[in-house]
Amino acid sequence: MELNINGKNVTVEVEDTMPLLWVLRDELNMTGTKYGCGVSACGACSVMLDGVATRTCILPVAAAVGKPIKTIEGIADGENQLSAVQRAWIEHQVPQCGYCQSGMIMAAEALLDNNPDPSDEDIDKAMTNICRCGTYQRVRSAIKGAAKMRAGENSLLSSL
Ligand code: FES
Ligand code: FES
Repeated sequence: MELNINGKNVTVEVEDTMPLLWVLRDELNMTGTKYGCGVSACGACSVMLDGVATRTCILPVAAAVGKPIKTIEGIADGENQLSAVQRAWIEHQVPQCGYCQSGMIMAAEALLDNNPDPSDEDIDKAMTNICRCGTYQRVRSAIKGAAKMRAGENSLLSSL
């Protein structure tokens, strides 16, 4: 079947019930998306599917056909230009062990795409990913930082 991942069409020969996470990691060697719980509870396996943060450990790959998939490998704008969320993550030194962080970043990207200026409550509601290192406060600060960066970039673009 054909998938669209990070703007490229990719053909995979797999059972249509294989979880998208296995297709990404085992078939396509895209290991940025992580396996945590395997039961859609932790968010480590999140990607954006048609713009929505989606847990892929129990999502059959067939459900992703015809929808754009964006993974952690695809959010930087070109090789050197990190996204605002990635830059804010570095600025706020969010990760501890790092294992949950690609899922956290994908959820944050999806949140900010849908809500450019989220309140604490919005962040708590949208960010249901689990971090065993307890980075939640820094995640919240980084999302607010990324929101400011995105707003600055948008106003710069509109003034050109
Ligand atoms: S590995 Fe998918 S939600 Fe935990
Ligand atoms: S940074 Fe270690 S699990 Fe989140």
